[in-house]
Amino acid sequence: MRIGIAQTNPTFGQPHRNLDLACGLMEHHRADLWVLPEFFASGYQFVDAEEVARFAEPIPEGETTQELIRFARAQDCSVVAGLPEAAPTGIYNSAVLVCPLGHLTTYRKIHLFGAEKLFFVPGDRPFSVTHAAGARVGIMICFDHLFPEAARSLALLGADVIAHPSNLVIPGLAQRTTVVRALENGVFVATANRVGSETRGGKELRYTGESQVVDPDGVTLLRLSANRVEAAVVEVDLARARVKALTSRNDKLADRRPELYTLAPAA
Ligand code: ACM
Repeated sequence: MRIGIAQTNPTFGQPHRNLDLACGLMEHHRADLWVLPEFFASGYQFVDAEEVARFAEPIPEGETTQELIRFARAQDCSVVAGLPEAAPTGIYNSAVLVCPLGHLTTYRKIHLFGAEKLFFVPGDRPFSVTHAAGARVGIMICFDHLFPEAARSLALLGADVIAHPSNLVIPGLAQRTTVVRALENGVFVATANRVGSETRGGKELRYTGESQVVDPDGVTLLRLSANRVEAAVVEVDLARARVKALTSRNDKLADRRPELYTLAPAA
């Protein structure tokens, strides 16, 4: 399958413009599965709850999800993209997976980063894997990369590809962790980060680009620049994510000893 990553530079608070630019960027390539950044249409740095509420959208009825479905239909592809989700239980930092037939699933970010904790409800549903574009697709959003349990959960659920919409601000960090996540779980990890900066509420955030696709051996198949809007596609063999054997006697998942692991600190 062909995995595409689109590295955009959204202008805060201009979802229509940002959506058009993202679609225009992807249209120049052919991919089966596209990954766009976290909050790719709204922008990232919200300064108050009113602003978050203004840009949050219901999924799947909201315009951003509907436009992504139109794009998926026109291009015969699937898309994973991040947006603020307005739900009855609160506003989530979410990512949708859409295909030509419509909306397939929504992931709500479980590990919130920085000021997101002020404005968003942490994800309340377990990780899950969804069939799209011939692959088993798992989603994690940005800071989730730092938690091995996130990618491990997705791998145990059978993910071939982890789509990772991001707005990364610590240079090089996720580029290193996702190599390990891909290698230790034997999956492809596709990180779509944004570039540029946002100064809002007196605070500047600089986004670090270097979006990348890593293979199940932890080899980086493609990496974009640190500062340019760009997109790229790489052909991958999904069968490689379905073989977890390391040696004739070792398997990355089957050799686990979960009965001996600790998942929470001792009380
Ligand atoms: C992040 O989670 N947006 C760094």
